[in-house]
Amino acid sequence: MPRVFSGIQPTGEPHLGNLLGAVRYWVEDQRLGDCFYCVVDLHALTIPGEAADLRKATTTMATLLLAAGLDPDACTLFVQSHVPAHTQLSWLLECTVSFGELRRMTQFKDKSSKGGEEAARAGLFTYPVLMAADILLYDTDRVPVGDDQRQHLELTRDLASRFNTRYGQTFVVPEASIPPAGRGARIMDLQEPLKKMSKSSESPQGTIGLFDDPATVERKVKRAVTDTDSGPDAVRYDPLTKPGVANLLELLAIAEGTGIEEVAGRYTQYGPLKADLAAAVVSLLEPIQASYRAWASDPSAVAEVLAAGAKHADGIARATLARAYDAVGLVAPA
Ligand code: TYM
Repeated sequence: MPRVFSGIQPTGEPHLGNLLGAVRYWVEDQRLGDCFYCVVDLHALTIPGEAADLRKATTTMATLLLAAGLDPDACTLFVQSHVPAHTQLSWLLECTVSFGELRRMTQFKDKSSKGGEEAARAGLFTYPVLMAADILLYDTDRVPVGDDQRQHLELTRDLASRFNTRYGQTFVVPEASIPPAGRGARIMDLQEPLKKMSKSSESPQGTIGLFDDPATVERKVKRAVTDTDSGPDAVRYDPLTKPGVANLLELLAIAEGTGIEEVAGRYTQYGPLKADLAAAVVSLLEPIQASYRAWASDPSAVAEVLAAGAKHADGIARATLARAYDAVGLVAPA
């Protein structure tokens, strides 16, 4: 069975992009591989936030992943900070990566641009190294992620290969598993369809949260930015010239489990497309929200899942870390 690893940050409100670009594939994969899914709380410390919010968001995210369909009997679900090997391996990889490689990471450039590089936390700069450690600790073959993580996965592969060349075969070189175009790889913001839907977005009206109620979903979809085209072929899938409409078509096709062209062929106007999309998103979210309420009513059950997950993950991560420590020449304690 291939080893699968992926992670999600407990920051901001999880949204439709997270679900359609990543989490639904995690659920689909969980019986096809030996899957590890991680709430990456240490990554959340790279941007400012309150301790109480992080505490709450970590539990909320783990609960939501269970509600979305992760089955603790089929996969390993855990919290990153519960397995110390993540930060330990990260140091070895910080001594493998170059300053120049980290400088070229577009997410660092984007995220540090707001407050300026001078004020950005050093952890934001080294973020991709911790992410590489997450992945490499589990001898991961496949990493299911959205398109925005492509560059981080390339770096992870480079670091694994470099480490192996320098110190001898230690890590499996993982493959990114990114949905094909049109199948959720990059869900766009409904208000600014040239930007990806994002947890940190300053466009709450363009982001459909997984906890949004039906009226909110309907309002956001109804107000989604399209264009002023009219006529029989206004509704067509063309992400370059009609990004807003293309995003709506993609969302509806995924929600219905049909093809984009088939969906596009059914409409000549934006109004009915939006009405059907809103209904489809509401039906997608309702069972997840109901299951969330059930799991959230039993926090000790969630805590038990996370404790068992961390125990299992820790055993595997320790063995990989010991291999890596030995490879670089660290002397094991007697
Ligand atoms: P995060 O928490 O930002 O997002 C979690 C997953 O959701 C995907 N995603 C999207 N997919 C499609 N359209 C969108 N608009 C969209 N927005 C987010 C992301 O690609 C991701 O798969 N660095 C990672 C977390 C991480 C990780 C890892 C992932 C840490 N360590 C190891 C994989 C393996 C992140 O910030 O994801």
